[in-house]
Amino acid sequence: MKTHTALSYRSVNVDFPTVDGSIRILRGVDLDVPKGSIVVLAGESGSGKSTAMLAAARLLPWGATVEGEVLVHDENITTMSSGALRGLRAQTMRVIFQDPWSSMHPMKRIGAQLVESAKQAHPDWPKSRLEEHCIDILEKVGIPEPRARMKSYAHQVSGGQLQRIVIAMCLVAEPEILLCDEPTTALDVTTQQQILDLLVDLNKRLGVTIVLSTHDISVIRGIADYLAVMYAGTVVEFGPALEVLSAPQHPYTWALLESAPERADGGRLLTIDGRPPRAGIEHRGCAFADRCTATADICRTEAAILKSITPERQSACLRVQQSVSAPEPIGAAV
Ligand SMILES: Nc1ncnc2c1ncn2[C@@H]1O[C@H](COP(=O)(O)OP(=O)(O)O)[C@@H](O)[C@H]1O
Ligand SMILES: [Mg+2]
Repeated sequence: MKTHTALSYRSVNVDFPTVDGSIRILRGVDLDVPKGSIVVLAGESGSGKSTAMLAAARLLPWGATVEGEVLVHDENITTMSSGALRGLRAQTMRVIFQDPWSSMHPMKRIGAQLVESAKQAHPDWPKSRLEEHCIDILEKVGIPEPRARMKSYAHQVSGGQLQRIVIAMCLVAEPEILLCDEPTTALDVTTQQQILDLLVDLNKRLGVTIVLSTHDISVIRGIADYLAVMYAGTVVEFGPALEVLSAPQHPYTWALLESAPERADGGRLLTIDGRPPRAGIEHRGCAFADRCTATADICRTEAAILKSITPERQSACLRVQQSVSAPEPIGAAV
């Protein structure tokens, strides 16, 4: 049976080789990205957002090993043949990185790169039709004088314009899934907002499924359908974004919201005390326990695994799970 999930992580572990042996970077990631939705991965730098994206595109550095399954439209990308993978990368799924320059060839004209990308989706179209299609998409992503831009090189346009061009380069191939790894971090605030608005518009108009990572949880208000909060290489909370933002069910999510640069109530910013654990350290108990203001004995002894706390929401907080599974006895509140 086909699911309504565009992308799924099932108990995904990723290990990277280092000179001191291999270290575990992703630990048991479980995540479902519903078709046509925008899912935001939020977490501090080093929490594993980029690694999760690279695992989904099978673009992890050489030597990295993956356990578990990453399913794209129900097919496991970790065991897919290289031919099937090429097809998937050309058409189904595209990745947008933080630095737009890394996605562009410096010596090829922008137009030639766009046409190359469009050709993967429309191999039968003549060059003139491909060019017109690319010009049309450039216009849609807000590039002024798109016909002239086709003749430019990457170094001749600004960072904001180039990120739009990178998005256009993905769109001309008509992908079903866009993985955007901190796509606006390198840009100024105004351009940042415009690019986010553009992604939302693409999602709404074309139904493109979008996974977007950010270390700044404040940028996602009004953008995400679902929010996945990552900490120390795993997802610690997941749910509909508005619900997670208004009533977090993990102390780390709460701390992340309190420390976000733009608090909704304009209140004083708090920082999260302490630092995330170093990558590769095995934890007994919850990885957030040392920084958490609500740590109990159980948090030091039990494995903190993401579990459903309501049909739509999941939390890895052992105390939240305890309170859900053991409701107040009747009459206790009296
Ligand atoms: N090629 C690599 N080799 C070893 N460790 C890495 C490599 N890339 C990333 N890491 C480590 O993996 C962890 C997660 O990194 P990353 O996925 O880039 O997090 P994020 O995108 O959330 O900032 C970090 O501790 C980082 O230092
Ligand atoms: Mg990253």
